[in-house]
Amino acid sequence: MSTRTPYRVLFVCLGNICRSPAAEIIFNAVAAQEGLSHLVKADSCGTASYHTGSKPDHRMLAALERAGYSYGGHRARTFRRADFSEFDLIIPQDEYNEQDILSLARHEEDRSRVRGMWQWFAPEETERSVPDPYYGGPAGFDAVVALLTRSMQRLVAELSAKLQA
Ligand code: 4NP
Repeated sequence: MSTRTPYRVLFVCLGNICRSPAAEIIFNAVAAQEGLSHLVKADSCGTASYHTGSKPDHRMLAALERAGYSYGGHRARTFRRADFSEFDLIIPQDEYNEQDILSLARHEEDRSRVRGMWQWFAPEETERSVPDPYYGGPAGFDAVVALLTRSMQRLVAELSAKLQA
């Protein structure tokens, strides 16, 4: 079975200023490490529009920098129905994001593209979604970066096998 390339991945959270831009940045870094950059393309967005046009939250950028990642200039945007056709894989960061996206799905094909980030969590993870760090302190942002880094290795390995089969 052929899979189109670049294979397009969309990370989704609520505001598109904390978790999903971090997921996009970490995905791009892990994909580059694994030599997969030419086969994949990532973006991120939010289910809510109140931060549209904003840069990622400075606390998330600081946590990413502490972990050695660099920011490529993303501005927040809102999920739209056309994203179901424009992306091959749509990855909500928590169950609320997942419900909001699925409520916009037009048919089974749209729904089949949505897979929660937790599907790539290791069995030993205690979290069942990527926790929203917005109302907490720096440790919460560091924990999101660490959880996403661990999970992204698993997602990229899956895509590597699929796209280079
Ligand atoms: P995100 O975090 O969904 O990971 O970008 C949030 C950003 C903003 C708000 C909540 C969560 N907010 O309530 O404004």
